[in-house]
Amino acid sequence: MPQIDYALLNRQLETLLDTRDWLTNSAQVCAFVFHEVPDLNWVGFYVQRTSEMLGLGPFQGKPACHPIPFSKGVCGAAARQKTTQRVDDVHAIADHIACDADSRSELVIPVVMEGELWGVLDLDSPIPGRFSDVDQEGIERLVATFLRHTDIPLLFEHQ
Ligand code: SME
Repeated sequence: MPQIDYALLNRQLETLLDTRDWLTNSAQVCAFVFHEVPDLNWVGFYVQRTSEMLGLGPFQGKPACHPIPFSKGVCGAAARQKTTQRVDDVHAIADHIACDADSRSELVIPVVMEGELWGVLDLDSPIPGRFSDVDQEGIERLVATFLRHTDIPLLFEHQ
């Protein structure tokens, strides 16, 4: 698999995000990642809408599952634990929510602002084991850039 220059992608994303609007920027992040990172079939945000539910946000790819409870799936685990989840073979994970039968591996990065969960960025690939340490660090860096460039609204009031 060719190496992706995530430092370059990060600089390009910094330029692309020229507003502080969360809806515009989150849509741009999805389109940018979907087109710049090879071998993906879905990229999108799920945002926290209730104390235990994620709702579908901007995405690229086929229509997807909505809503997703915190208690289920790879996205739910990322939201609960506020840690990145990387799954090399989704068929081996009983808890995986299959929105698209083509998906074989998955990377889910929590979007956390001042310790509070806002949502997650979910990447799916039709290739098993698509995501390496380099991909994980690179995409986490892009999420950090999104957070730095965006006024994140509270879509859910944490108690
Ligand atoms: N597979 C995810 C659900 C979201 S879709 O992949 C778009 C999960 O198990 O949480």
